[in-house]
Amino acid sequence: MSAPREPRPSTLAQSLDTIRTIAWMKETARQARAESRVIGFVPTMGALHAGHLSLVERARRDCDPVIASIFVNPKQFGPKEDFAKYPRTLEKDAAKLAAAGVGALFLPEAAEMYPAGFATYVNVEGLSERLEGRTRPGHFCGVTTVVLKLLEIVQPTFAYFGRKDAQQARLITIMARDLNLDTQIVLGPIVREGDGLAMSSRNAYLSAEERRAAAVVQRALAAAGDEVRAGVRDVLRLQEAMQRVLAAEPLARVDYAEIVDAATFEPVLRVARPAYVLLAAYLGRTRLIDNMFIEPVAEGADEFAIQL
Ligand code: PAJ
Repeated sequence: MSAPREPRPSTLAQSLDTIRTIAWMKETARQARAESRVIGFVPTMGALHAGHLSLVERARRDCDPVIASIFVNPKQFGPKEDFAKYPRTLEKDAAKLAAAGVGALFLPEAAEMYPAGFATYVNVEGLSERLEGRTRPGHFCGVTTVVLKLLEIVQPTFAYFGRKDAQQARLITIMARDLNLDTQIVLGPIVREGDGLAMSSRNAYLSAEERRAAAVVQRALAAAGDEVRAGVRDVLRLQEAMQRVLAAEPLARVDYAEIVDAATFEPVLRVARPAYVLLAAYLGRTRLIDNMFIEPVAEGADEFAIQL
């Protein structure tokens, strides 16, 4: 077999190696591993913002080289979802990644990722169908399939995911455990705008009025956090606190507001162990998700630390 050759040199950003073929990505990563370098990997769908870049920064602290990928994965979009209009800002993204110290940017093509006859999927049973999966059937199967493929291609020591997508992060962690992947999954905190809105590539879809209203999502979570701090442990009361805040914003329509065990993502009735407060809401036609992580400050303690 002849050595894989990358067809064209990078023109995107100086000092950033852009890689468009799977063979070349594998070869580049193999070389780094052969030099005993620790590869950190940050998979994305592009339209990069400070949330993505926080994962790159974290990876830079632990690893050299850091490899990022941009791939708007068709398999994780439903037929009525925004695949076609998902923001694509490759030039800007490449400049941001180069400035952040990323060594290589993997830009696979859909035709190579999913050639004719592609038939193999990985699915984390149960959790994939609930919460986000209920509103977006098949979404997580698309996510875990592409993430497994990317992890197989790059074989990084560490791969970085944001808690912004808490259910996705949990599913990927479960997949890595169940399939004995060599990659360690590392989760980073949610990065927010000045008014508290969690950064998301989809925030670009919001009209000015919806953008102003969107801060209600984080305010609702914060209201539940205040109740937890005040000693409330009953989930129904926490949900009521969120609903009160959300009901005051006519532009917001709640999809779900749930409190789940942080490991199983099963709903809980009382908070006692580490838990996620998960919120999904429509602002106009744009669906936003956000969450808050709460955990006892010490094992068995009744005081909770709140990560929003
Ligand atoms: P994307 O939405 O581009 O997000 C890439 C990574 O950035 C994910 O791990 C996500 O959780 C993280 N992220 C997004 N917004 C964030 C924020 N405000 N704060 C912290 N981290 C944030 O998630 C995906 O792409 C895709 O599903 C992918 C995993 C790449 C598979 O296609």
